[in-house]
Amino acid sequence: MNFYVMTLFPEMVSEGLHTSIMGRAMDAGIIRLETVNIRDYTLDKHRHTDDYPYGGGAGMVMSPEPIKRCYDAIMEKRNSEKKPRVIYLTPWGKVFDQNMAKELAEEEDLIFLCGHYEGVDERVLNEIVTDPVSIGDYVLSGGELPAMVMIDAVSRMVPGVLSNEESGMTESFENSLLEYPQYTRPEVWMEQKVPEVLLSGNHQKIAEWREERSIDRTLQYRPELMDKAVLSKKGGKYYRLRQKEAVGQEKE
Ligand code: ADE
Repeated sequence: MNFYVMTLFPEMVSEGLHTSIMGRAMDAGIIRLETVNIRDYTLDKHRHTDDYPYGGGAGMVMSPEPIKRCYDAIMEKRNSEKKPRVIYLTPWGKVFDQNMAKELAEEEDLIFLCGHYEGVDERVLNEIVTDPVSIGDYVLSGGELPAMVMIDAVSRMVPGVLSNEESGMTESFENSLLEYPQYTRPEVWMEQKVPEVLLSGNHQKIAEWREERSIDRTLQYRPELMDKAVLSKKGGKYYRLRQKEAVGQEKE
């Protein structure tokens, strides 16, 4: 899979992503990342990429022409006729989630446009962008970190990027439950003991315990996810018990 990132800070993106699982996947040639500096596509002597907003107001707006020329250069490099999806990182976009990551992982090429300043001239967005995407309801200084977040999450869904063991960990989120607590040695740390069941070697009991702790954690931190949760028979029973308890507490 090929990721192209149009940005004013190419090193930030390439250096930030060349680690751990992503670095391994790039070295193995499963994914390819190409950062393209929008400034290289300016036409004026001072290499301006922005200008004052029509209508006034604070901040600067990124000019359409360098972005379009940068995009055209990427399109020429690709060896596919298919029009790629072009993602514009913006707080007003559709909110990114695991399902979107999975869907985007099916694409051969993805192009990201990282904005800065107060935004990007609307006309170039109209010309090239297929998907405006936000990574959450907060405002960042630019689209680079959101693009990196998306590239990491999408890459993990590309076949071959994760080992079998690593894939298992992502699946545990796909049942819409939060992860259960994890422990490693020592058995006792700062007077806190590892739960007995995890030392028992009883895999059935361990799986049940983990599902229950996932349910507890989801109820505590993300109760809205419970509507979509996929539970085992025993997990369903435990959840109904917890719901009954909650109703009981409300009545008290
Ligand atoms: N650019 C600035 N803030 C952003 C956000 N939350 N998501 C995506 N792009 C952004």
